[in-house]
Amino acid sequence: MNSVIVCHCVVVRDHEIRTEVRLGADTVEAVGARCGAGTVCGGCREAVAETIIDEVTRGRSLADDGVAATARH
Ligand code: FES
Repeated sequence: MNSVIVCHCVVVRDHEIRTEVRLGADTVEAVGARCGAGTVCGGCREAVAETIIDEVTRGRSLADDGVAATARH
């Protein structure tokens, strides 16, 4: 899997953040509570937020595809 470290203090990769988003964490605070990202120096919080937004947007896009696929049958 191609992933990058988003939070260097706690060594949290983007795929870990994306997993937490899919499990219901939709804020930087919620992600931090679950995996520790953004809870030390705070320097990655913007990158954590961008990853959350990207995953939420991606999830909605996939859901839209599912609706479209269902509608076609
Ligand atoms: S880089 Fe994430 S808390 Fe410091």
